[in-house]
Amino acid sequence: MRDLQRQVNETLAMITARWKRSPRIGLICGSGLSRIIEPLRPEAVFSFDELPHFVPSTALGHAGKLICGEWHEMPVVAMQGRLHFYEGYTLAEITYPIRVMKSLGVEILIVTSASGGMNPQHRPGQIIVLDDHINMMGDNPLAGWNDDELGPRYPDMSQPYDVELSNRAIEIARQRGIVLQKGIYVGVKGPNYETRAEYRFFRMMGADVVGMSTVPETLVAVHAGMRVVGLSTITNVCLPDALSPTSGQQVIDVAHKAASQVRQIIDGLIQTESRNYHSELFRD
Ligand code: HPA
Repeated sequence: MRDLQRQVNETLAMITARWKRSPRIGLICGSGLSRIIEPLRPEAVFSFDELPHFVPSTALGHAGKLICGEWHEMPVVAMQGRLHFYEGYTLAEITYPIRVMKSLGVEILIVTSASGGMNPQHRPGQIIVLDDHINMMGDNPLAGWNDDELGPRYPDMSQPYDVELSNRAIEIARQRGIVLQKGIYVGVKGPNYETRAEYRFFRMMGADVVGMSTVPETLVAVHAGMRVVGLSTITNVCLPDALSPTSGQQVIDVAHKAASQVRQIIDGLIQTESRNYHSELFRD
């Protein structure tokens, strides 16, 4: 997409006409997790339909809004609802909002999702902080022409999820009595949940959780030089030898119940960033 920067500038013009702030933190709400942004005080809200070059969200439980506002005295931009590969969009379309967030000033991206847990110790409602991922989507948002101004042709992926921020998330969770363990996420296209043989295969590959998102956004965010934290709520436990059926509604319901814990972790991360930012200002 050779004219990506021009398109981003057009979207940016629409956002900055109504919101003049420069957010350092961006957030993506996963399935059933729209409540995690309750503490965000909205200052400007855009529906994906009204933003140039955004595509509308069609997924169950995804509102399709870009919310710009303040959280712990920090400007924050959040996607309430996300775009998925299974909706029929290209990975470039799905990750376009990440390019927009980057040009607004975002340095830290918090990506949340729902996932199936394949580790026998997992329980529904438990949250995982992503340590790494495996791309099984059969495509890559960075394929095609590369704009060297936006990021390198061959980006390093040795540590896609920021270690310091992930460890901070674990410490915040510990202080609040929330169990938070590291895990490896395998990203698939969907939209069906996996067969028993697929869950077994993904577990053998070394993955702990499986989901239909996160990987494309993380790839683009890392390409753009952002620090990424990934939080995933296990909505269904997928043990191939004793597999219960799963539905989209079940995934949304379990994620919805766990949302307050995800919100507490994010709240702690933003509070720490706000303290760091304001003490830096004070030092200058
Ligand atoms: N597989 C893929 N995506 C998911 C699952 C699953 O089991 N649960 C929630 N999202």
